[in-house]
Amino acid sequence: MGFEDKVRPILEKNCLECHGGKKVKGKVDFSKILTEKDADANFELWETVVEVIEAGEMPPEDKTPLSEEDQKTIVDWYQIRIASEHRGEGDRFQTASSFRPGVSQYPAVAFWI
Ligand code: HEC
Repeated sequence: MGFEDKVRPILEKNCLECHGGKKVKGKVDFSKILTEKDADANFELWETVVEVIEAGEMPPEDKTPLSEEDQKTIVDWYQIRIASEHRGEGDRFQTASSFRPGVSQYPAVAFWI
């Protein structure tokens, strides 16, 4: 489950068009996140990424949605590599379901509570 061989290609195919280099929507720029180390250094970003892809918010409606497999690849990678290693760091990881009221319908994720 590596970032570089599994997750990065999905971002390149589905997200970089709006989140990299020339266009940077929502202050999310994946073009600078090239290695697992970069990904890890930006660990808080992934929590938001998992939320928006699980909620079906990204890619936006008029774009091809992520396949279930791609979605699962990102979520699994996140849970194994990011969430488990950063548990307890920062407020967001302790109160995963409450920091973004707009998406409170997102089910609380039991493993980091
Ligand atoms: C067609 C352009 C487009 C594509 C493709 C796209 N996004 Fe976005 N994204 C946006 C825009 C515009 C915003 C900021 C406005 C908003 O939140 O709707 C945004 C915001 C975001 C945010 C910040 C949300 C927040 O609440 O802070 C994340 C994370 C994100 N996108 C991830 C992704 C991921 C992951 C992909 C690929 C699976 C992706 N986006 C594909 C246009 C795009």
